[in-house]
Amino acid sequence: MFTLSLKALLTLAPFITFSSGAILEYRKNHGSGGSTSGSNGTCTSIPQFLSCENTTEITDTCCTPTPGGLVIQTQFWDTYTGMEKSGQLLPKNNWTIHGLWPDNCDGSFESYCDFERQFDERPSPSTVNGQTVPRYSGPTVDTFITAAGRDDLLAFMKKYWVSQGSSDASFWAHEYSKHGTCFSTFDTKCYSSDTQHEDLIDFFETVTKAWLKYPTYDWLAAADIVPSNSTTYKLSDMQDALKSKTGALPYLGCHNKVLSEVWYYSHSLGPVQNLDFHAVDTTTKTTCPESGIHYYERSSASEA
Ligand SMILES: *[C@@H]1O[C@H](CO)[C@@H](O)[C@H](O)[C@H]1NC(C)=O
Ligand SMILES: *[C@@H]1O[C@H](CO)[C@@H](O)[C@H](O)[C@H]1NC(C)=O
Ligand SMILES: *[C@@H]1O[C@H](CO)[C@@H](O)[C@H](O)[C@H]1NC(C)=O
Repeated sequence: MFTLSLKALLTLAPFITFSSGAILEYRKNHGSGGSTSGSNGTCTSIPQFLSCENTTEITDTCCTPTPGGLVIQTQFWDTYTGMEKSGQLLPKNNWTIHGLWPDNCDGSFESYCDFERQFDERPSPSTVNGQTVPRYSGPTVDTFITAAGRDDLLAFMKKYWVSQGSSDASFWAHEYSKHGTCFSTFDTKCYSSDTQHEDLIDFFETVTKAWLKYPTYDWLAAADIVPSNSTTYKLSDMQDALKSKTGALPYLGCHNKVLSEVWYYSHSLGPVQNLDFHAVDTTTKTTCPESGIHYYERSSASEA
């Protein structure tokens, strides 16, 4: 159930964009990408319901994510990448992108939903629904982005979608194949153009734009919660700082009292590509302790 107090609605206001007009162009033409037309590429009217809050069957799965209607923007706070020697560095004063996930409305989720779009070299899990996920060993996904003429997108991803312990491109491929292919609004059938990997490029772009909606570093800093190797923080202070910005409780992840992740949950009005997210509380219980949480500074050698 989705209810909003007026206060929460006001807090959420920057997140809510009401499109006018009956025709909602579901995906925009990105530079070299082909234009999209017809019922597969456009949502002819804005759905009047949020994902996970439909009261009748969802018939146009390109226009509302289903069954994965719980849209989660996930981020990391890493203090190193382990790949510093190859120039893989973290962005100063910024959390990094983990991904954008389509959980089912009850918090369970599917993985690797389309083996035709499997670009992950080391699928994890290695089997889904009793089937072995094929291993991929072709050209890396960054080459698809370059081929699409989207060096701008690639540069942004290199800066803010940084992997720890593996190459960035293999991490992006993992996120796309494991999670991205499970969003119904990114199904290949939703793209009528014959441009290769159009949905993949669109997914990567949507992930980066979704991340921009949740500036975790700034939101915590506004509550005087900044990386520190000499002090620790209380869970409720961190939760309150973030909840005051989105109106809902995100998931905070810790490993041995060390803060490392945040997940922002939402329901989507229209296709995920429209980025019209309505915050909802996390369905996952925090792994952080009540107090004594370390939010560590990075070593300068790990930052760009
Ligand atoms: C919402 O849509 C899904 C997919 O069509 C359907 O399975 C589900 O029953 C719908 N929910 C309601 C309450 O009708
Ligand atoms: C983090 O990166 C984004 C994207 O460039 C930028 O808008 C934001 O200001 C950055 N945050 C900080 C604290 O520098
Ligand atoms: C802060 O502590 C973390 C974790 O021990 C360490 O990796 C990092 O280098 C430290 N940063 C500074 C600036 O001392």
